[in-house]
Amino acid sequence: MYLLMRKPITAIANVLALLVASVMTFARAADNQSATQLSNLVRQDCGSCHGLTLKGGLGPSLRPERMQALGVDAIRLIIADGKPETAMPPWRDLLTEQDIRRIAQDLMSGAYIGEHSSTEESP
Ligand code: HEC
Repeated sequence: MYLLMRKPITAIANVLALLVASVMTFARAADNQSATQLSNLVRQDCGSCHGLTLKGGLGPSLRPERMQALGVDAIRLIIADGKPETAMPPWRDLLTEQDIRRIAQDLMSGAYIGEHSSTEESP
């Protein structure tokens, strides 16, 4: 009985581990990422839910107009902690504070959706 009860939990744990592993292929450890890596992560990982051009999909639009209304601190908290009870996952373990701040600033300035990403120019 004890063993049977544990099975669903193990299954859920396996699914979670798989999800985490797939995210980890883009953000292997919480080391600072290069600007290009960050830009790719935002377009691919965030884009998988927020739309490849960040105009919205499963998650809402991450275009500058909307991000400027939220403000850098609110965006940082949402990225770090995710949004409980929604599909928005926490990124705290995958990205450094510095990377999260940079993503928040770049979302506000529209760096990821412009022809030339400002993040690709600065070190
Ligand atoms: C698995 C899907 C998924 C992924 C991956 C994801 N998000 Fe989200 N995100 C969501 C959903 C769904 C919401 C809306 C939550 C709600 O209902 O308030 C959201 C909300 C947000 C918000 C708040 C938007 C607003 O106007 O309220 C921000 C900012 C955000 N996500 C940024 C990001 C960033 C940056 C990444 C990548 C590092 C990311 N998200 C990855 C699903 C995702």
